[in-house]
Amino acid sequence: MVRKSALTVLSLGLLAAASPAAVPNVGSGTLQLAPRVPTPGLIDDLLGGITTEIGLLIKDILNGLKSAQSDELSSKPLTCLLGLDPCCKWYDVSAALTDLFKGANGQCTDLARGAVRFGFHDAGAWSESSPNGGADGSLMMDFGEENRPENNGLQTIRTTLRSVQAKFGVGYADLAQFAHNHATVTCPRGPRIRTFVGRKDATKAAPEGLLPDVHSPADTLIKLFEDKSFTPHDLAALVGAHTSAKQRFVDTAQANKPMDTTPGVWDVEFYNETLHPPANGEIFVLPSDQVLSKHPRVEDEWKEFVGDQRHWNEDYAKAWVRMSLLGVGKSELGGLKECTRALPAAVPV
Ligand code: HEM
Ligand SMILES: *[C@@H]1O[C@H](CO)[C@@H](O)[C@H](O)[C@H]1NC(C)=O
Repeated sequence: MVRKSALTVLSLGLLAAASPAAVPNVGSGTLQLAPRVPTPGLIDDLLGGITTEIGLLIKDILNGLKSAQSDELSSKPLTCLLGLDPCCKWYDVSAALTDLFKGANGQCTDLARGAVRFGFHDAGAWSESSPNGGADGSLMMDFGEENRPENNGLQTIRTTLRSVQAKFGVGYADLAQFAHNHATVTCPRGPRIRTFVGRKDATKAAPEGLLPDVHSPADTLIKLFEDKSFTPHDLAALVGAHTSAKQRFVDTAQANKPMDTTPGVWDVEFYNETLHPPANGEIFVLPSDQVLSKHPRVEDEWKEFVGDQRHWNEDYAKAWVRMSLLGVGKSELGGLKECTRALPAAVPV
């Protein structure tokens, strides 16, 4: 508790020094947010006794009281000359990732879609009952997770992110999540998700069997995500990341087929096209997306996302803030720092 108040003073000081031009709460007047029912034993509980500014912010995001997106943006502040800002290195990481994630046509690249999936496979390998795993960088570190079949296809982005880590000396766990959030906002129309740093890196591999199987029935997938504290509506929002996705290994004869007609853009076409695939066979609908889109606990939300970019972006961002903090311990949570301002600006299109 002594440590907690020290961190409060520190984080308030840094916020005051570093973010004079904050513009939080993107479009907060028009959000369509359903209040979350806090799930026992999870981050919602861990946040219970935390009264730092950042802890309260995260709590408000998870409860739907504050937006999970933010326009707060600045160039690298002069205070970085004195090393006074916890986000300094992230401005440099951000510039490096822009070169990797933004294509010449302004759309997001294969490395960007890789980073989106990588952030999920690192953080999502967790459940309420698992002693470790979560957003801990274990997939980027040397625990052999890259050789698990479910992580096939992530080798290139993993190697790329490891060289970024080596160059800038940031944490593996934070980099996996920063890279995900950089990738979504680099894709045109993608959300600018509030981005926190200060996680501890893994000390061992994530448990096996906690990532979704593309051939599982919808009920199995819903249960798997509920065990990570996501509702079926959260799951509907999260799988929308397949708006930027291609498949290589589900059907190797159709390798590199996208999951919607516009994989370089973070749009809601995915939701419509999963329900009504174009007849020319240009997209690949995953069996899991197929069954989820028709499941009674998912389909209403799925249909609501069709044609409603704003609704989806906010729901995705909110679910992602939760994803990005899975497994992060109580002692870390209160001392996290927000470095959203180091991300590039959103591309509304
Ligand atoms: C029911 C849950 C999910 C299942 C069963 C699933 C399954 C898959 C499969 C089979 C692939 C293709 C891999 C390949 O053949 O190359 C894929 C790709 C992808 N998934 Fe998911 N996924 C799920 C949820 C998510 C979530 C929550 C995210 C959010 C980040 C996500 C992001 C991606 C992305 C961005 C790709 C494309 C990667 C690339 O093109 O390199 N997926 N997913
Ligand atoms: C959804 O797809 C169908 C069939 O391709 C199309 O007729 C319809 O206009 C689309 N709706 C939206 C909202 O994009």
